[in-house]
Amino acid sequence: MADSIGDRLRACWLRSDEIFDVVEPDALFEQPIALRQPLIFYLGHLPAFAWNQVCRGVLKMASFRPEFDSLFERGIDPMGVDEYESSTEWPPVDEVVQYRDRVREELFDAIEPVAERADHDPLAERGRIFEVAIEHELMHQETLQYILQQLPFDHKRRPVPMPPYLFDGATSPATVAIGGGPVVLGADFNAIPFGWDNEFPELEVEVGDFVIDRAPVRNSEFEEFVEDGGYQRPELWRDVDWLWRQRVGLYHPVFWSRDNGDWGYLAMFDSFALDRVADWPVYVSHAEAEAFCRWRGGRLATEAEFHRAAYTTPDGGVRPYPWGDQRPAQRHGNFDFRHWAPTPVGCFADGDSAWGVAELVGNGWEWTATVFEPYPGFSPYVPTYPGYSADFFDGLHQVILGASWATPTQLVRRSFRNWFQRHYPFLFAKFRCVHDA
Ligand SMILES: [Fe+2]
Repeated sequence: MADSIGDRLRACWLRSDEIFDVVEPDALFEQPIALRQPLIFYLGHLPAFAWNQVCRGVLKMASFRPEFDSLFERGIDPMGVDEYESSTEWPPVDEVVQYRDRVREELFDAIEPVAERADHDPLAERGRIFEVAIEHELMHQETLQYILQQLPFDHKRRPVPMPPYLFDGATSPATVAIGGGPVVLGADFNAIPFGWDNEFPELEVEVGDFVIDRAPVRNSEFEEFVEDGGYQRPELWRDVDWLWRQRVGLYHPVFWSRDNGDWGYLAMFDSFALDRVADWPVYVSHAEAEAFCRWRGGRLATEAEFHRAAYTTPDGGVRPYPWGDQRPAQRHGNFDFRHWAPTPVGCFADGDSAWGVAELVGNGWEWTATVFEPYPGFSPYVPTYPGYSADFFDGLHQVILGASWATPTQLVRRSFRNWFQRHYPFLFAKFRCVHDA
């Protein structure tokens, strides 16, 4: 994080604008995922959040557009419903864009006044509140992609230049034996430039020996599960997952299609025969991932096992990234929008962990068997955003780790934890199986 706050804000907004440019203007009022707000909400939400945190929250400034501050304040994570009908009357796009641009100017002007408070306000110290705003926007850049993925092709314009798809070069299926030992989860608050509340404090845990797939499960492997009746066999599913699968009528991953008996695959801007993308990782919900693992006689890795395989070394060391100490770069994996699509599993050999496990970070988040909970000693340290994590300590969310192709590089951080409901199928989330040694 060597760049100034101003430079990083600018870079972050540029990426957000590129993403909104993908949407045909008329489609901004569409709601491609029934569980999420229409796209126009996010156009207003990103600036509203930053304004509410930095200018209103820390600097106590008076609002210039209070009705937008509240209209666009919070997203939704509805429980127990599959659809959310937005009843809001949304303002015209140009008014939302004007609001966004005014907020951006105000944020630049806020850099100095926030810095002046650094010695008596922990949120101002090291520009933390700007990191809250920036990382919030970076996370939304990815979740926007989940929504855009569900938007019909003719409502989207591909980015220019659009990198070529990769179809070949996957690593061969294999397993790796990981020796048990200690793992340090989370981080020390003063040891990293910024982290969210759920990353603190540090927690040391012990894991036993286990065997893990060298690469994540690919579409071709998951097709065998589907063809073997995986979606028709309740014994492979937890009861609650089976009921959900029946209720929503799920018979295959939502990224797949079925036309005249042939399997297809829906990428962001193009569709393919499934055979063409056989080596891309399969993206599924936690429930589907678990059913597959049970079918294969394995299970998902725990959060601690993922860390053991990714960040420790066989001789007892710990490293910040699976590949070592170097800052995340293109050769390490598929993240930071470099491909706008998955890539063949494990084709970035430079990203392998010290144990030789491929692609733990990049090309899709990885579902874990761990329910999202606070580490002992947790406290919600951002008073302007107390519910960032605490609202989700409900036993219904699973930890996902790593990164997807749509995860910005700044979020590639060992202590970063992400979480989603078990039944949310729209993520760029992959998985691999683990067996007890
Ligand atoms: Fe948000």
